[in-house]
Amino acid sequence: MVNRKILLASRPKGMPDESNFEVIETTVPELQEGEVLIKTLYLSVDPYMRGRMSAAKSYAKPYEVGEPFLGGMVGKVVESKNSRFQAGQFVEGRLEWAEYNVSDGSTIRKVNPELAPVSTALHVLGMPGLTAYFGLIYIGEPKEGETVVVSGASGAVGTIVGQIAKLKGCRVVGIAGGDDKCSYLTEELGFDAAINYKTTDNLRKSLKEACPNGVDVYFDNVGGPVSDAVMSLINFQSRTIICGQISQYNLEKPELGPRVAGQLLTTSSLMKGFIVSDYAEHNKEGLTQLSQWVREGKIQYRENVVEGFENTVDAFLGLFRGDNIGKQLVKIAEE
Ligand SMILES: NC(=O)c1ccc[n+]([C@@H]2O[C@H](COP(=O)([O-])OP(=O)(O)OC[C@H]3O[C@@H](n4cnc5c(N)ncnc54)[C@H](OP(=O)(O)O)[C@@H]3O)[C@@H](O)[C@H]2O)c1
Repeated sequence: MVNRKILLASRPKGMPDESNFEVIETTVPELQEGEVLIKTLYLSVDPYMRGRMSAAKSYAKPYEVGEPFLGGMVGKVVESKNSRFQAGQFVEGRLEWAEYNVSDGSTIRKVNPELAPVSTALHVLGMPGLTAYFGLIYIGEPKEGETVVVSGASGAVGTIVGQIAKLKGCRVVGIAGGDDKCSYLTEELGFDAAINYKTTDNLRKSLKEACPNGVDVYFDNVGGPVSDAVMSLINFQSRTIICGQISQYNLEKPELGPRVAGQLLTTSSLMKGFIVSDYAEHNKEGLTQLSQWVREGKIQYRENVVEGFENTVDAFLGLFRGDNIGKQLVKIAEE
């Protein structure tokens, strides 16, 4: 059986392009005892994968040039020599960007198709949903009546952060890069206000109007000038959650910004970075709570689905152009 895979062809300087990726054709190997053969249904493209394309030391090991990309995927077991999995089951895990994967079962989990569409295991009921939940609940500790601002608000993580904050009784203000994105947040997800950072003449002023009582919790997905504007409005004992810095991922030189230590000092505020895996011991709690909210219709989600393995790289690059509303997925095969 032919199996297409995507490899890192070269390390990008600045914004990656198609030349940094290579598609190869291999064949699916014979299964060994303990292994499972999985047909990919959906591939997840995620901003953190940009970091792994560079050789810089980070929490996730860099991809090696000439090696396949590893990322989130949902697939169907087509053959199993592992007693924990049977053919026909759906699974999610970190595997190769490929049409088929052979796994020893250690990095995959079963997905229940009766709970929600299986693709949700890559967003609201998976890593991005848990990221939103852990960051907001464990670090942000939002209280009723407080104002929560989220940047990257219309993406996979941001949409869930804002909705959880609403469930906690907060005023929620989203920052996103499009009028369509902002209307989605306010009209469909119940955000109290949303600001298009690409068109406002003065982001700080727009934020001040949207946050008349200042900012108690800032969930930062983007960094850069957007965050500078939010940080100038933080309240006494505010909490800033550093989840992502996507505005910085493709810069060749670090960008200088205002020094925020004084602001944190004079407001007795907290700023904390985190990685979703820091809270792995709470995964069951997070997934149970998120599943309940989805079942009860208290949390909505949206998928931006691109079809076809050959469009995976462009879908990934689209994250940095802001192409997606909700979770960006690539559909590889029918269930
Ligand atoms: N700490 C963790 O464990 C963890 C886990 C998952 C994700 N993350 C981080 O969380 C953030 C969101 O991830 P996601 O998966 O939910 O992605 P996403 O928000 O679904 O997609 C990326 C979005 O980022 C925005 N963006 C791109 N370039 C930007 C720029 N220069 N300035 C401002 N915004 C920009 C775009 O929306 P606009 O149109 O609004 O610009 C784009 O749609 C990322 O920074 C990611 O690295 C962290």
